[in-house]
Amino acid sequence: MLDLTQLPVTHPTGQYAVLVGADLLPNLAEHAHIRGPIALITDSNVGPLHASRCGEVVCVVTIPAGEQHKTLATVQTIYDELLAAGIDREATVVALGGGVVGDVAGFVAATYMRGIDFVQCPTSLLAMVDASVGGKTGVDLPQGKNLVGAFKQPTAVLADITTLQTLPSAEFAAGMAEVVKHGLINNSDLFERLEIGDWRLTNQSPIGNLKSLVATAIAVKRDVVQEDPFEQGRRATLNLGHTFGHAVEQVSGYRVRHGEGVAMGLVAAAHLSAQLGYCDAVLQSRIEAVLQAQHLPTHIPAEFEPKAIYQAMFSDKKKASGKLRFILLRDVGDVFVTGDVAETAVLATLTAVQSA
Ligand SMILES: NC(=O)c1ccc[n+]([C@@H]2O[C@H](COP(=O)([O-])OP(=O)(O)OC[C@H]3O[C@@H](n4cnc5c(N)ncnc54)[C@H](O)[C@@H]3O)[C@@H](O)[C@H]2O)c1
Ligand SMILES: [Zn+2]
Repeated sequence: MLDLTQLPVTHPTGQYAVLVGADLLPNLAEHAHIRGPIALITDSNVGPLHASRCGEVVCVVTIPAGEQHKTLATVQTIYDELLAAGIDREATVVALGGGVVGDVAGFVAATYMRGIDFVQCPTSLLAMVDASVGGKTGVDLPQGKNLVGAFKQPTAVLADITTLQTLPSAEFAAGMAEVVKHGLINNSDLFERLEIGDWRLTNQSPIGNLKSLVATAIAVKRDVVQEDPFEQGRRATLNLGHTFGHAVEQVSGYRVRHGEGVAMGLVAAAHLSAQLGYCDAVLQSRIEAVLQAQHLPTHIPAEFEPKAIYQAMFSDKKKASGKLRFILLRDVGDVFVTGDVAETAVLATLTAVQSA
């Protein structure tokens, strides 16, 4: 039995633990200190693989897999099923799945009967290292991603590394984009381990190695959100690569995965930073090499017009008062937020990072 890593997270209304380890799901209630009934929310891919491992639950609500189902319509169907199963305020909503399930289930937990307890069991790498920590939940609207939501802190997060073994390799790679991002934001040691190939992992890598990678990447996010729980300052740095990435995702009609958009966005952020004189141009090549080693895209497909991507940036809510905000790099582990970037510079970067 591999040992368990516990990462305590403090937030404005309390504290909880993120547990990282193998085979946590069979002892879900015990690990997460759940005493009442459990309503498990999962998706059509993850449910058949892992729901039966979660011990005794009162009901399993299975939503169709995919970002296109991260909607208010899905939230409504979940409310219906919870009511039909007699779920009340004594119960705990447990999210078992990727970031989509976590965001939707968290929003349900924040709003159902004015809020009930919530536990995250992330099963994708992206959900483990990013989506499940920090308390942000929500759904997409036709106008854009994550436009409706709530802050809802979980009472526990269980990152069961064993579940990664069934994660498709492209989804694992997408999660690695966020791991690379975390290294760039605040952990140069993490970035360098990826760079020298120490942590060139796949979802089939030894559990112990995956566990260290996941725990290290979670700690970066934990440290940032603890400092700025409501995204008033430093937390915005977690959006490194996301202003570009979200816009590419949107212009592609969400055919580009979130993590893939982030990978392209990290390259664009480095290009823009170098163009504006904040960092050395070699940083872009270093980031490209790390992403390519993880089989992630480093160029924006030529079919998406720079002007269309630029326009899409304005429908992303992460802009302060009508102005775009960019996270720029000075070096690995040294990033900052600015709202002061000219359209011509952004368009030049978009053109430069497009594939030929
Ligand atoms: N709340 C936050 O702070 C936050 C942060 C980052 C991202 N997000 C959100 O997270 C979402 C992306 O998360 P994601 O990449 O996990 O997407 P996802 O939930 O769509 O999961 C990706 C795919 O992998 C499948 N899957 C997940 N775990 C599996 C497993 N163990 N075995 C087999 N299949 C598995 C899913 O069914 C899905 O098809 C986006 O909606 C994004 O907005 C939220
Ligand atoms: Zn992200």
